[in-house]
Amino acid sequence: MQPAPSAASAYPVAPAPGLYEAFGEQAGIRSLMDDFVQRLRSDARIGDQFKNTNLPNLAKSLGDQLCQLSGGPCVYKGADMKTAHQDRDITKAHFNALVEVLQDSMNARGIPFARQNQMLALLAPMHRDAITVR
Ligand code: HEM
Repeated sequence: MQPAPSAASAYPVAPAPGLYEAFGEQAGIRSLMDDFVQRLRSDARIGDQFKNTNLPNLAKSLGDQLCQLSGGPCVYKGADMKTAHQDRDITKAHFNALVEVLQDSMNARGIPFARQNQMLALLAPMHRDAITVR
């Protein structure tokens, strides 16, 4: 049976075994996302897009999303990716910049490169819905 459509299951790719654990489970993912949103806000390429954002709330949403995607026991309850981004001007370059910022955060936490790529593979299909300017 197909899973019910939801923000995370709209991208039905199974996580690599052990991915959630490799990210330090909930505590690791939460602290990674706290760092990530700070880096996003201060990034010269995309920081302005987050100037009115409640960063702790965004970190919570992202944390739930990555926890769920990576096989953890969380349920992301925020907007689906299309709805969350449709009123913003987001290009492929913006998307790539966000991925680079996430890589910076993951590197700072010492997450192994292969594990980083397994997480990025789960996020990559979201480009369809997050990029609004083509
Ligand atoms: C894989 C890529 C991405 C993921 C997983 C992602 C995820 C999310 C999530 C979970 C939310 C919160 C939705 C909610 O809580 O209802 C959000 C909001 C947002 N995203 Fe993304 N996003 C991605 C790409 C991007 C890109 C490339 C940009 C622009 C550079 C962007 C800009 C924003 C903005 C401005 C918001 C609203 C923040 C606010 O509440 O003020 N996102 N995104």
